[in-house]
Amino acid sequence: MAAGFQYRLRRGGQPTSVEAWRQAARRALPGMVWAYLDGHADDGVTARANRDAFARWRLRQRVLTGHAAPDLRTTVAGQALSMPLALAPTGLTGLSHWSGDVACARAAEAAGTRLVLSTASSYTLEEVSAAAREPHWFQLYPFGDRAFVSAMLERARQGGYGALFVTVDVPVRGNREAEAVHGMTVPPTLTPASVFDAALHPAWWWNLLRHRRLAAANYVSSGLRGARAAVQSVRAQERFMQADLNWDDLAWMRDQWRGPLYIKGLTDPDDAQRAVDGIGVDGLVVSNHGGRQLDNMLATADALPAIAERVGDRCEVLLDGGIRRGTDVVKALCLGARGVFIGRPYVYGLAADGEVGVRSVLALLRAEIERALVLMGCPGVSQLDRSWLLPSTTGSDSP
Ligand code: GLV
Repeated sequence: MAAGFQYRLRRGGQPTSVEAWRQAARRALPGMVWAYLDGHADDGVTARANRDAFARWRLRQRVLTGHAAPDLRTTVAGQALSMPLALAPTGLTGLSHWSGDVACARAAEAAGTRLVLSTASSYTLEEVSAAAREPHWFQLYPFGDRAFVSAMLERARQGGYGALFVTVDVPVRGNREAEAVHGMTVPPTLTPASVFDAALHPAWWWNLLRHRRLAAANYVSSGLRGARAAVQSVRAQERFMQADLNWDDLAWMRDQWRGPLYIKGLTDPDDAQRAVDGIGVDGLVVSNHGGRQLDNMLATADALPAIAERVGDRCEVLLDGGIRRGTDVVKALCLGARGVFIGRPYVYGLAADGEVGVRSVLALLRAEIERALVLMGCPGVSQLDRSWLLPSTTGSDSP
């Protein structure tokens, strides 16, 4: 990849938490991109609930167990991971940092984990697989145009993508008011305020103009970049999105993809059972799209136990939404997840410091998971279950 003018963030030193990376990302990005990255649907009730649901549990601590080096390893989709955490699909990462999905894939594999490449990625399936050393995974929106879906799946197969994640919680896009307020439209809505705000981020502008990673690259004629590509990709997305898809479409996709298949975006145990019994999925991601789709729906950590209980013995149950600390990962595993995905946290790292930032966020969360297990006296992630959780006893915030 061509070298770029790398934004360096040394103000105040290296961020030491996901929240500190969030603040660094906020400083690096113009308001319109920040509104997209950090935004949520409607009033953000579900986005906050995802965090609050973890905070309502307490961890059990056993002392003097002698477990100094907990084992974090697991497998997902048949691939060995160094920890139970991977990178969720996120669209348009090239807006947060020019190095986008390629940087994310490289950072993930350096940390012994994987990226789920978004359909709406800033680099194509081919560009990412050419830059990566390990097989990553691919996320598909279940578009109604079967010829288009078949072509995407063929590209994923050719690129060696090792698993398919079909996102089912976007029949229409959620109501992201902050994006409209900040002019995050295609083309951008420029106001005196947004132009002034943009002028405060010269490094971001420089990289955007130089690399022109503005579009969802997988839908764009090859070689086209910049504003024309962005408009073409939005038109294509509008054409392919279809709100009336149903389980038969999923069954058809199951027939089209022979590798591991996951459905992402379920919170209901009846849907989970249907996915396993009716479609034969290999796994599920309990997800509400980070609170970016239906507001006021259940937090994922609250939805997880019933799903894990219903189908956890027959498929891999994963979770995303609200993970900001290693202790959140530990709690998700105690509640029945095999592993978790992070979305916004790694894009904060990407926005603030490119691939180095994503690596740093992954290293930070790994250290937090490890430290939590040592402090709990737990030998490894495979040992985590409900016996390690206690309800908060402070009354109002009990689970
Ligand atoms: C895309 O999936 C988004 O949430 O913006």
